[in-house]
Amino acid sequence: MRVKMLRLWVGLLFSALCATSAYGGKVLVFPLDGSHWVNMKVIIEGLHSRGHRVDVVRTDDSWYIKEKSPFYNAITLDVESGFSKDFIVKFVEQLLHIQREGKSAWTRFKLEMEQGEKASQMHEKTAKLLEWIFENKTLVESLQSAKYDLVLTDPGVPGGVILAHCLKLPLVFNVRWTSHGEGHLAIAPSPLSYVPMTGTEFSDKMSFSERVLNTLVLLFGEYQISKYIKPHYESLIKKYLSPGENYQSLFQAADLWLMRVDFVFEFPRPTMPNVIYIGGFQCKPAKPLPAHLEEFVQSSGDHGVIIMSLGTLIGELPSDLADEIAAAFAKLPQKVIWRYKGAKPSTLGNNTLLVDWMPQNDLLGHPKIKLFVAHGGTNGVQEAIYHGVPILGLPLIFDQRDNLLRIGMRGAGKSVDIFTMDHDIFFQGVQEVLSDPSYKKNMQRLSRLHRDQPIPPLDNALFWIEFVMRHKGAAHLRTDSYQLPWFVYYSVDVLLCLSSVVLLILGALSTFFGCLCSKVCLQRKSKHD
Ligand SMILES: *[C@@H]1O[C@H](CO)[C@@H](O)[C@H](O)[C@H]1NC(C)=O
Ligand SMILES: *[C@@H]1O[C@H](CO)[C@@H](O)[C@H](O)[C@H]1NC(C)=O
Repeated sequence: MRVKMLRLWVGLLFSALCATSAYGGKVLVFPLDGSHWVNMKVIIEGLHSRGHRVDVVRTDDSWYIKEKSPFYNAITLDVESGFSKDFIVKFVEQLLHIQREGKSAWTRFKLEMEQGEKASQMHEKTAKLLEWIFENKTLVESLQSAKYDLVLTDPGVPGGVILAHCLKLPLVFNVRWTSHGEGHLAIAPSPLSYVPMTGTEFSDKMSFSERVLNTLVLLFGEYQISKYIKPHYESLIKKYLSPGENYQSLFQAADLWLMRVDFVFEFPRPTMPNVIYIGGFQCKPAKPLPAHLEEFVQSSGDHGVIIMSLGTLIGELPSDLADEIAAAFAKLPQKVIWRYKGAKPSTLGNNTLLVDWMPQNDLLGHPKIKLFVAHGGTNGVQEAIYHGVPILGLPLIFDQRDNLLRIGMRGAGKSVDIFTMDHDIFFQGVQEVLSDPSYKKNMQRLSRLHRDQPIPPLDNALFWIEFVMRHKGAAHLRTDSYQLPWFVYYSVDVLLCLSSVVLLILGALSTFFGCLCSKVCLQRKSKHD
């Protein structure tokens, strides 16, 4: 008994010592709802477990971001977010609807216009939300007096970026996209000769015509930013930040970019010292499955199991598409677990289990899993890489085609066009990835590469967040090149200067030799005379 007490005391003393030696910081998180929240939550839980206090800004109409959590305190704002469930579900439905009209330049154009319009509406609401915050003096004062160490945000919407500047706090991104494109485009040099733009489905080896298109896509993107995004924030920035500030440079001034990119599947490209790669940080070893799922999985025998999920944003499909998929699954000897919220497809076989939600990570890590039928969102792709499960892709929207292209190029999966396929084409796709062992072999190679890192990516992310806390920013890692005028950035002035010097010298030389020649000629002439 005495020994036990003593141990208890030593234990308490030890943990008290540890608690005081670790620095308990305060982090203000401005997240993005939907699938982006899924991985922001992982970092928040990590920060919490290291003894930091986390406050999360959310709105009344938040979709996935809950008010109550053991890991954070919510700061709930009584205002529209612009990213509500209703808005996103309708938007995604519309994108699917347009794509069902067939693949043509016209549908592509309509898709771009629709995305532009919806982005514009979302940014309009985000700007209103920010204005609402800035006009609420008690709220701003309470945020200032809370003495946060830093703001952690997903710059897919600029809310957290602008708020951090207003509060003059160090800024850390959990990023794949800024509101105006792939993250790197905002800070790292991105030569268009080998950095393909998202949506082009090009690789890093482009033909001449592909490079032309790649450049046009960048220019069109710039046009969309100036038309649909920037105007919403200009007056806000002028009024609440400094008038000279420009929208894009607010992002470029961030201290640290925790980039959800993994060069195991992304093409190599130039980067910057304040970019830390954390792709796959949300992946973890599989835990045992709930009893009913384990029983279902085991009932598959040697055939194994296929799982299918189209991600957080897409719970259901048009019923005819769902019927084609269900019919193909019904013909397979494997068991299938399908995360699906729509009405039960009429062709559903008795080997297919429809579920509202599934422990995707635990299923992917189960030895009986043979194939992952996925939409190609980065979270799912990373989890498949981590666990070495080949993918049959059904890309739907956004960057999904580009992600699956990268998996396809590494021979770790293949894609089927969901908008033009029937059950036969889908069935053949499934069969091919299941029966050709190279898909699995290649994916397992990616898995080994991904896991061969000195520090697990989540620990790396937490280390760097704490680094920014300790040093009150990371400005020494950041270039200020974004403040240069474009002709200085590209050294146009230097090139002009040097080329005029060369021209001058050439000009002087040619005049000199010209004169010399004419003099010699004159002398000869006079001799002859
Ligand atoms: C200001 O924000 C606080 C805290 O979120 C809230 O309680 C209050 O109602 C807001 N005031 C106004 C005028 O909206
Ligand atoms: C499932 O369906 C197949 C073919 O339709 C049938 O042969 C089999 O007996 C069914 N199994 C069960 C458990 O109902």
